[in-house]
Amino acid sequence: MEASKLAMVVVALLLLLLSSELATASVSYDHKAVIINGQRRILISGSIHYPRSTPEMWPGLIQKAKDGGLDVIQTYVFWNGHEPSPGQYYFEGRYDLVRFVKLVKAAGLYLHLRIGPYACAEWNFGGFPVWLKFVPGISFRTDNGPFKAAMAKFTTRIVSMMKAEGLYESQGGPIILSQIENEYGPLEYYDGQAGKDYAYWAGKMAVGLNTGVPWVMCKQDDAPDPVINTCNGFYCDYFTPNKPYKPKMWTEAWTGWFTGFGGAVPHRPAEDMAFGVARFIMKGGSFVNYYMYHGGTNFGRTAGGPFIATSYDYDAPIDEYGLVREPKWGHLRDLHKAIKLSEPALVSGDPTFISLGHSQQGAVYKSSKGACAAFLANFDASSAATVTFNRQRYNLPAWSVSILPDCKTAVYNTARVRAQTSQKKMQEIGGFALQSYTEEPNSLTDKSYTKDGLLEQISQTWDQSDYLWYTTYVNIDQDEKFLKTGQYPVLTVMSAGDSLHVFINGQLAGTSYGGVDSRKITYYGNVKLRAGSNKISILSVAVGLPNIGRHFEKWNTGVLGPVTLGGLIEGKRDLSRQKWIYQVGLQGEALSLHTVSGSSSVEWGSASHKQPLTWYKAFFNAPAGNEPLALDMGSMGKGQAWVNGESIGRYWPAYKAYGSCGACDYRGRYNEKKCQTNCGEPSQRWYHVPRSWLKPTGNFLVVFEEWGGDPTGIAMVRRTVGSVCARVDELQPTLASWQTEEEDAAPEVHLSCGPGQNIANITFASFGTPQGVCGSFSEGSCHAPKSYDALRNNCVGQQSCKVAVATPVFGGDQCPGTTKQLAVEAVCE
Ligand SMILES: *[C@@H]1O[C@H](CO)[C@@H](O)[C@H](O)[C@H]1NC(C)=O
Repeated sequence: MEASKLAMVVVALLLLLLSSELATASVSYDHKAVIINGQRRILISGSIHYPRSTPEMWPGLIQKAKDGGLDVIQTYVFWNGHEPSPGQYYFEGRYDLVRFVKLVKAAGLYLHLRIGPYACAEWNFGGFPVWLKFVPGISFRTDNGPFKAAMAKFTTRIVSMMKAEGLYESQGGPIILSQIENEYGPLEYYDGQAGKDYAYWAGKMAVGLNTGVPWVMCKQDDAPDPVINTCNGFYCDYFTPNKPYKPKMWTEAWTGWFTGFGGAVPHRPAEDMAFGVARFIMKGGSFVNYYMYHGGTNFGRTAGGPFIATSYDYDAPIDEYGLVREPKWGHLRDLHKAIKLSEPALVSGDPTFISLGHSQQGAVYKSSKGACAAFLANFDASSAATVTFNRQRYNLPAWSVSILPDCKTAVYNTARVRAQTSQKKMQEIGGFALQSYTEEPNSLTDKSYTKDGLLEQISQTWDQSDYLWYTTYVNIDQDEKFLKTGQYPVLTVMSAGDSLHVFINGQLAGTSYGGVDSRKITYYGNVKLRAGSNKISILSVAVGLPNIGRHFEKWNTGVLGPVTLGGLIEGKRDLSRQKWIYQVGLQGEALSLHTVSGSSSVEWGSASHKQPLTWYKAFFNAPAGNEPLALDMGSMGKGQAWVNGESIGRYWPAYKAYGSCGACDYRGRYNEKKCQTNCGEPSQRWYHVPRSWLKPTGNFLVVFEEWGGDPTGIAMVRRTVGSVCARVDELQPTLASWQTEEEDAAPEVHLSCGPGQNIANITFASFGTPQGVCGSFSEGSCHAPKSYDALRNNCVGQQSCKVAVATPVFGGDQCPGTTKQLAVEAVCE
């Protein structure tokens, strides 16, 4: 054979080998994008964490994500939910990961599985099981043998499970991407070479599991090949992956921020969210994941710490209760449509950037087949700009991006919200006929034990309960002066967190707690002691284990001292090293008072008194309808609540939100302190009760109140859409008209109430130059008198309606030459 022929045969053989490789590895990537079955894709993804809702909610959430224009659902895997004790696995109920993944597939979406297994996620202990902390010689997230062994074992277990169920795309399943570790880069530096070695090991270990789909590491600049390093943040347009052959991916586009007890509630405006995403795609990005798309609820004691609230709403496009949040959901859906219309040009290669002004820029994508898409951006945070592009003029509001899927028609601008706004309300259904049972403070049982000195809390509880009793006795001499003067001694208790109550001889003396910024507590107060023996009981309460921070497994919780008594004849007495009696958990926990059977073990009485350490119970019937439900706990202090034995989480409405809650302007860089609400009010007043936890009658509510709140205020509420608003420009081209190529079709206003609701009334309608925002619209100088009629006739009595925004519909032109808008507000009932 000639040399050239031999070479050809070798090439042919190599190609064969390569193509068989490609046949199995159906997901790959290049510089531009993730490639699925040979196609580069612009992928829109959203985080939905399966344990933060119920399996009954999953199909609806996934469908709303699909309707919102998502291609991919992203989730962490929650190790501590799946392996509650070593080698004992749990994949049922809210932790039925396989069921969740299969539902995503059934909806025709892809899945990004972030195995971690470190999740952070404002989840208890960052997703690690508490027992992991007690593995001898362990050190989390560094080049440590015991840790790496445990991490590899769990990761392998999850990968094997997905493979066995055929869930990777290479097997015909929905999983197209996976993630190992999570935001480790910022910590790696502190561990020196051990940190670098660990990051490298984690990437190689994951790749060695042969999933057939790419792995990512987020916030990990040195992610080893072929792992893709990705960006997390409010904006990621500046980001560049560590190799030119990796795509630019955004694993966490933060749609808002979490709420902490004591903190204000953050909101990210829809306009800025869309701006951040449009800017990322404009700058070459090809994968965006909204973190969160549905945040959900930290049921039970799954909230991380310190002080993460039970609601994990996150201001996400789907709210905590599973209802779409408008206009965010609809405005992003429209953005996704505009991006998809541009996809053929976007995947073709890199954009050409053109300057359109001092703070204005264009990006043009062109494919060899003639597709052309352009993004026109105005980065100016205060002023609108008019730019000229391809000899046409475009008006760009401040801090906005317009998308031109044909390089001509601006079908979408991130600052012009066409989606309706909806305002939710919590409608009271009724209260409860409660009975109460008050615990004796620290009635010691045979499970109590005595030790010298003060012990760290989690080493005692292993997080089986939030509560640990510390009890000691002090002897007071009859000659102590305070017994006559009434100048009582001062008890000082230093605690590593998170909250504590001090009882002296069975009476509550005081309460102290830390905050989101500092868990540490110093309790300081005069205590009424008597001559002889006195019992000092401290109930130390954890409020979620830390989920983030350097070696958070070594952080302490509980009363570590010193504990001192000042103002005695001897001066200050240090109680820290004397004998302390320990008891894990509450009496009511030991008796399972949250269940019907457990509750029969104590005598219940009337619920009129407001005592600390009190359990309340009531039976109730499920409210009619299928709107989401919540408990209004606004009158209560702090504690936990259960419905039919399921924990709806910790409540703490008495912790009022601090922070500044000013006006919210979408323009300019967003951060989590920018658009907050609830200042001076409870950080969280309502607590989600999933419908699927209820039966028609005989439901069992149990509330444990630590502080002594007023139980008569507890009520069941239903979450409904109160009103909807929209504002539409008469001249604005619409996505719909562009797609159907009916160039002259007038824009339409779309209104839609919640499921099972109708539009009851039109409370505002003005075609002309209306002023104000939803909730406070007013007529401007130009107003078509038939504005109301057009809306009333088409909408009242309907669940949803659409009306063309065109002069004839509103009875003729009142102000020729003026560009008009329609603003409308409707009541839903
Ligand atoms: C409907 O809304 C208008 C405008 O706010 C108000 O005047 C009218 O009383 C409402 N009608 C009903 C039936 O509520």
